[in-house]
Amino acid sequence: MTASNDDMIEYWNGAVGERWVRLNAELDRALSKISGAALAFAAAKPGERVLDIGCGCGTATYELAKAVGGGGDVTGVDVSRPMLAYARSRGPGVNFIEADASVHRFHPTHDLVFSRFGVMFFADPAAAFANIRHALAPHGRLAFVCWRDVKENLWASAPYDAALHLLPPQKPSDPLAPGPYAFADPRRVRDILSKAGYRDIRLEKLDSTLYMGADAEEAAAQALNVGPLAYAARELDEALREKLRAAAKGALAKFKTAEGIAPPAACWLVGARA
Ligand SMILES: C[S@@+](CC[C@H](N)C(=O)[O-])C[C@H]1O[C@@H](n2cnc3c(N)ncnc32)[C@H](O)[C@@H]1O
Repeated sequence: MTASNDDMIEYWNGAVGERWVRLNAELDRALSKISGAALAFAAAKPGERVLDIGCGCGTATYELAKAVGGGGDVTGVDVSRPMLAYARSRGPGVNFIEADASVHRFHPTHDLVFSRFGVMFFADPAAAFANIRHALAPHGRLAFVCWRDVKENLWASAPYDAALHLLPPQKPSDPLAPGPYAFADPRRVRDILSKAGYRDIRLEKLDSTLYMGADAEEAAAQALNVGPLAYAARELDEALREKLRAAAKGALAKFKTAEGIAPPAACWLVGARA
């Protein structure tokens, strides 16, 4: 029996999905360097047929549409209704479908299956990737970006660690559970993809930065919008959130660059063939 993604589907259809829509411009700015690197790695070409898994609000999906041009075809797939509604409102040129990518019956016509941080949420990753492989034409390729260990992602871990002493006791997290860091272990990613029938699997380290704001104040506010501190603080009262923000601000001030606060972000660029 296939493990169910129901909890994740509910999660991305709730407050989190709404928040991603509201903060879309900021999140896109935060991810712009990583996004550019992931799209370059995927190298969509004019005329190609592309599927964007977990496309969310559609930013990378529309970039892919530009790359394939009028002779190509791009489809975004996601489970989040609010994010898909926003993605659809952003223009013509892309098809969007609401579906669980782990079980949806795709046509086996795609040259490229891409994802920007949208494939770490499956309850049974090997079964999900085996299903996704059926979306690829015989010569087709897979290319996605996912996070490495949270400790290497200082944009996420630095504000969380600085505020941890203020938080209520936190449950230890299961590193294999569906979630943003589920693909941190490269051996696990290889194992999942080979079990799912892919070949020529390669993982490249992408050491980048994530833009969090013009100054430490803005960056601390962002740490309460997205990442592990935001998750831990989601149901806390405003007085405590204010203290968390102050702790995060102190930790993030260290990452000042010429462009603003931009802590290290550590990703895998993952490629494979059908
Ligand atoms: C971290 S967000 C990334 C969104 C987008 N790719 C971006 O980079 O802005 C993860 C996305 O994966 C989607 N997702 C989670 N589980 C999914 C599933 N089983 N099938 C399709 N999409 C899924 C979520 O709804 C969400 O939009």
